[in-house]
Amino acid sequence: MGHVVAVVGATGAVGREMLRTLERREFPCDELRCLASARSSGKELPFRGKTIVVEELTEDSFDGVDIALFSAGGSTSRKFAPAAAAAGAVVIDNSSAWRMDPDCPLVVPEVNAEAARRRPKGIIANPNCSTIQMMVALKPLHDEAGIRHIIVSTYQAASGKGKAAVDELHEQRASLAAGEEPVSKVFPASLAGNVLSDWPAGEGGYSEEELKLVNETRKILEDPEIGVTPTCVRVPVATGHAESIHVQFHKPLSAARARELLAVAEGVVLGPEGYEPGAEPQPRSAAGTDPVYVGRVRDDLAVEGAINLWVVADNLLKGAALNAVQIAELVGAEK
Ligand code: A2P
Repeated sequence: MGHVVAVVGATGAVGREMLRTLERREFPCDELRCLASARSSGKELPFRGKTIVVEELTEDSFDGVDIALFSAGGSTSRKFAPAAAAAGAVVIDNSSAWRMDPDCPLVVPEVNAEAARRRPKGIIANPNCSTIQMMVALKPLHDEAGIRHIIVSTYQAASGKGKAAVDELHEQRASLAAGEEPVSKVFPASLAGNVLSDWPAGEGGYSEEELKLVNETRKILEDPEIGVTPTCVRVPVATGHAESIHVQFHKPLSAARARELLAVAEGVVLGPEGYEPGAEPQPRSAAGTDPVYVGRVRDDLAVEGAINLWVVADNLLKGAALNAVQIAELVGAEK
């Protein structure tokens, strides 16, 4: 028998990918409810060759729902996820609202699937997009050599900030091409022709996004001692996050051994060995696909036993909708 599934934020950039991902992975779903704000009530979204009418999200939206996928921002999740859980649904939440709650597991199925089973609040958190792709790439290396310290710089796409952000990037590009000054409403400055610090301030001169990489990595790998030194920037790419990652281990790990491990790692596609201009992985090719692509696996030149990697994935898919649907598949398959 199938499940009754609700998607909260169904009209958004991630919500739409959730619908497509449920469909293409043939998630066993008897009924799909598409929920969004009152603005979208009555809109129609395609699902399995039919259209589903979007309903306004209210506390009564979850009667009979088995699994509720949320991607409508932190405040909506904080307000409505408990109501969904109280109505008996398992919530899989893509916002940051519940990620650091000790009673909400933070799950990347390739990394810590078993954590999804312990969910006293009925809420499972989907990690930050940058964390997810980094975890998929680093877990096999962690199992082998034990991660001690990660230095990560992200190159994050506009769609991580939602549909309005992608629209603004396109408009800014058109303005630049026309020789006009771009208008910035969603971004703090023009993203077109630029690279931006684009998140609210966290602590100690780090952004909230950077601190998510620190805290979520430690929670997922269950090791509060792991050092994470993050720098996050937004680049003028519509979809596809890239990360430059330097990793130091408790036991030395060579690039050659890391490649052997990554070649058979679940969810990973390993790029060609060595350096070539224009080589994959690239965000443009990763966009619209499921894997986490790992390339440029190198021995560090200065730190013995440490390696460097380039990691690329679709931030809306593995970084959000796909990871959430994979969690839903784990929950749906529970006995
Ligand atoms: P809506 O389209 O009605 O505004 P994105 O990340 O692409 O900006 O999408 C955000 C998603 O979250 C959209 O589906 C949006 O619905 C939904 N959303 C935002 N605020 C609320 C709210 N207060 N209640 C329900 N859904 C919301």
